[in-house]
Amino acid sequence: MGKNFKRTLVTSALPYANGEIHLGHLAGAYLPADIYVRYLRLRGEDVLYICGSDEYGVPITLTAEKQGISPKELVDRNHESIKRSFAGFGMSFDNFSQTSREIHTETSQAFFKDLHAQGLFRQKTTDQFYSPGQNRFLADRYIEGTCPVCGDENARGDECEKCTATYNPSELIDPRSVLDNSPLELRPTIHWFLPLGDWQEKLSAYIDSHPEWKDNVKQYCRGYFDSGLQDRAVTRDLSWGVPVPLPDHEGKVFYVWFDAPIGYISATREWAAEKGDAEAWRTWWLDDETRLVHFIGKDNIFFHAMMFPAVLMAHSENYILPDNVPANEFLNLEGQKLSTSKGFAVWLPEYLAKFSADPLRYTLARNAPETRDMNFTWEGFQARNNNELGNNFGNLINRVFTFIHKYFDGHVPQWSEADLTDLDRAALDEVAADREKWTAQMAKFEVKAALETAFHAGQVGNRYFDESAPFKSRKTDLERCGQSLGVIIQILRQLCLMLAPVVPFGMEKLWRWLGMETDLWQGGWDEGLRNIPAGRTLGKPEILYPRLDDELIQPEIDRLRGLVADD
Ligand code: MF3
Ligand code: ZN
Repeated sequence: MGKNFKRTLVTSALPYANGEIHLGHLAGAYLPADIYVRYLRLRGEDVLYICGSDEYGVPITLTAEKQGISPKELVDRNHESIKRSFAGFGMSFDNFSQTSREIHTETSQAFFKDLHAQGLFRQKTTDQFYSPGQNRFLADRYIEGTCPVCGDENARGDECEKCTATYNPSELIDPRSVLDNSPLELRPTIHWFLPLGDWQEKLSAYIDSHPEWKDNVKQYCRGYFDSGLQDRAVTRDLSWGVPVPLPDHEGKVFYVWFDAPIGYISATREWAAEKGDAEAWRTWWLDDETRLVHFIGKDNIFFHAMMFPAVLMAHSENYILPDNVPANEFLNLEGQKLSTSKGFAVWLPEYLAKFSADPLRYTLARNAPETRDMNFTWEGFQARNNNELGNNFGNLINRVFTFIHKYFDGHVPQWSEADLTDLDRAALDEVAADREKWTAQMAKFEVKAALETAFHAGQVGNRYFDESAPFKSRKTDLERCGQSLGVIIQILRQLCLMLAPVVPFGMEKLWRWLGMETDLWQGGWDEGLRNIPAGRTLGKPEILYPRLDDELIQPEIDRLRGLVADD
C-alpha cells in the first residue's frame, strides 16, 4: 500500500476443468477481475492478466472414469470449451493456460525441489485406504462402506448421508471401492507436508501490513491464526497429477492445491515464451515493482492469502507476494443456493447461445457479491437490460446520434466552451465529478459502486437532454441546438469510459462511432478526457441494447422452477 508500482499482474482463480463455467463463477473470480484489468488498460497501465484451467484433482479422474475417457482427454475437451465461452463473455486474458502442460510440470516440480532442498517440508506417515485388487491408494471420494453408526451400506469414507454421522475412515465397516466394489484395507503411506505453523508469524505480519484488504479476507485469516496454522499435505497417492520429483515416489503426485497456484507462474512463463522473450516472466514475479492481485471466490481465501504466500516466501528466490486478494462472496440464483449437481445453475455456453455478453456482465456487476452474497434473478436481468442498459444508456446514445445524423449531417455541431450556459456547465461538471468518483471506486475494486456512479452520470445525460431540449431549439435556435448536442457528445465520451470495462462490446462500438483514434484498451482514457471538437464525423449508430421480451426470459425462469419442483 502506498507503494508506487510499475505494473500489475492480475490473476483469476484457475477454474476446475471439470465442467462448464456458470454464473456463480463469473460473479466471483472472473468478471470483477476482467473489469479491473480493462480499467487498468484503459488507463494505459502496464498489466498482465493470467488464468488457465486447473486440471488435476480427484473429481477430474472420477468424471473421466465415468465417461470412459482418459483424464487428459477430459481436461483438454473442457479446457477448449471453457476457453471458448470465456472469450464469448469478453474475458480478456493475456494467457489462458492449462496445468496439465509440460511447462507447469516443470515449474511446479522446480518449486517443490527448491523447498525440499531447503528442508522446509516435513515427512509423515498416515493410514490410507488401499485397493489390493487395483494396486493403488484411493482418495476419500472413491470409498464407500457400511456406516458404523446406523449401518447404512452406502456410507461415504468419512460421513454418512443417511444419518449425517461423521467418523474416522478407519471406523468404516467393510470399506470398498466405488469403482469396482472390491474390498479395501488401510495401509501406511508416506507424504510431504508444509508446516504452515512455521510461517505463521511471517504470514500474520504480512497480512497486518495490508490494512487495505477487504474485511472478509482479513477476518478469515485471523480466524486461522487464532487456532494456529496446521501442517498441510502437499502430496497425494494418485495417478493423475504432477509427479513428485523425488526417487522412490512412484504413484505420488502433488496435492492439487499445491500445484494449482503455481499455475499462475507457469502460465506467465508460457506467455513469455510465446512472445519470444522467455525470461520476461521474471519481471512479473520477481521484481518488487510489480503489483500482484489475485481475484478469487471466498472459498479460495485460505490458499491465496496463506498457503500460496507461504510457498512464495519459502522459495529461495525473492518472489513477490500478493498485494491484494480481493475475494468475493457467493451468488445465489432465484433466491436459492446454486447446485451444480442438481443442474440448478445458469451455464455460460447456454446463456451465450441465446443472449449477448454485455447485459449479463452489466447485471452481474450491478449485483456484484462484494461484501455479501447476492442474488441473480432472470427478471432482474431483464429489468437491468431494458431499463438501465436500454433506456438509460442505449436510448440516450441512439437519440443523440440519430439526431445529429438527421439534422447536422453526422458532424459534431458547432459548440464551444466559451458558449456554455449555466445548464451546460452544470451537466458537464456533474459528469466530470462522477468520473472522478468512479476512478477512485475502481481503484479500490468497488465495481458495484463505480457502476452506480456511471449510472448516475447516464441519468445526468438524460436529464440534460430533456432540459436543454435540442428537439425544440432545432426549430427556434439552431445554434443553441448544436451547442446542446456538442455538450451531450462530451457527456457520451465520458460515459463510454466509465462503462467500457463493464460492457466492452457495446462501448467499443460507441468509441468508434465517436471517431476516437486511440485503441480504447491501450490508454484510451487520455483521449477520452479531451473534448471532441466541432466538425468531427460521427459513425452511424445501431441499437446497442435491444429490449429482452418475456418470451425470451420466461423459459429460463420455468427451467429453474422445474428443477426446484423436481427436488
Ligand atoms: N480450481 C479452484 C476452484 O475453482 C481454484 C484454483 S485457484 C489456484 O476453486 F490458484 F489454485 F489456481
Ligand atoms: Zn449412518
